[in-house]
Amino acid sequence: MSPASLLFSPLRVGGLELRNRIVIAPMCQYSAVDGSMTDWHLIHLGQLALSGAGFLTIEATAVLPEGRISYADAGLYSDANEEAMRRTLESVRRWSDIPIGIQLAHAGRKASTEVPWNGSRQIPPAAPNGWQTVAPSAIPFHDGANPPVELDRAGLARIRDAFVESARRAARLGLDAVQLHGAHGYLIHEFLSPLSNKRTDEYGGTLENRMRFPLEVFDAVRDAFPPERPVTMRISGTDWAEGGWDEQQSAEFSRRLEERGCGAILVSSGGLVAHQKIPVGPGYQVPLARVIKNATSIPVVAVGLITEFDQAEEILRAGDADLIALARGMLYDPRWPWHAAAHFDATVKAPKQYLRSQPRQFPKLLDRIE
Ligand SMILES: Cc1cc2nc3c(=O)[nH]c(=O)nc-3n(C[C@H](O)[C@H](O)[C@H](O)COP(=O)(O)O)c2cc1C
Repeated sequence: MSPASLLFSPLRVGGLELRNRIVIAPMCQYSAVDGSMTDWHLIHLGQLALSGAGFLTIEATAVLPEGRISYADAGLYSDANEEAMRRTLESVRRWSDIPIGIQLAHAGRKASTEVPWNGSRQIPPAAPNGWQTVAPSAIPFHDGANPPVELDRAGLARIRDAFVESARRAARLGLDAVQLHGAHGYLIHEFLSPLSNKRTDEYGGTLENRMRFPLEVFDAVRDAFPPERPVTMRISGTDWAEGGWDEQQSAEFSRRLEERGCGAILVSSGGLVAHQKIPVGPGYQVPLARVIKNATSIPVVAVGLITEFDQAEEILRAGDADLIALARGMLYDPRWPWHAAAHFDATVKAPKQYLRSQPRQFPKLLDRIE
């Protein structure tokens, strides 16, 4: 391994040792049945597990049926879901030792939609595959959409307990980390942002109050998951909208998470309101990661249009983030980490069945998965 490459240097996140700094970001596959993974997940996660990345994150996985974005989302709310995921993971683990985490999620007011390839439109509660959504306040995501029902105390407790139950299932499945989905306008983010949270009780109003439910969920999950395995949070660093959640509030939230034992923060952005103005471009969310780096001393993950090997290395060298997450780039080129390792004269783990593919000019590229 070249000492020159930070991308291929190891990093400890809580009790977990990562071989390199490449993280596969969670990606919904909309291919589950009643929340249970199918053979698509084995194909999808199986190929990504052979990518040489340092960490693989399972897609947003709902903690309750009504917390799914669509009827085809993965869930971890039933014994059948747990059993389907166990089968998938057993097969993946037989051939790969990549650490695997899961993103636990509740989609809040953005639940009950069609799958993306059928247009992603919201499905009304009375229509097939639709249900009544819930949120901190009864404000729909778009004008004209079916408004969510405002959660009462019993509703909040039910959701918090569902996160805990799913985290227990994740622990039983031997998953190496849990990531809470606090970004992209889903339920946890809906509590944080003043644009979606108009509550007048202790869960709305001041920043302190808006952070209350997300922090209660974090604490409850942290308590329920084995202490040596990290619990992390994905945030939207900003809503990209006037009067919304922003960098300063994200910094404060991240400090609170750090105090409570959060393993890492993944810094994404947007997704809360339809009128957001996102300045999309290469590495456009990296400055948000930098804000969290400056505010905390836990590992920070940058994500969003990071596609080039030198670009990824530069982000780490500049100290803007500790880890680099890729989503679309990994689907486009599932051997991105192999190619990056070749570029930096580093080594990646590879299955014994593929060792003969090693190009002559990179004699130390592939290290056999035992
Ligand atoms: C197919 C697809 C599914 C996604 N699903 C999730 C998800 O389950 N959870 C999440 O937090 N982000 C999800 N995202 C967002 C990605 O994790 C990532 O933040 C985003 O695509 C930007 O990174 P990229 O430019 O490397 O793709 C998804 C993105 C794609 C393309």
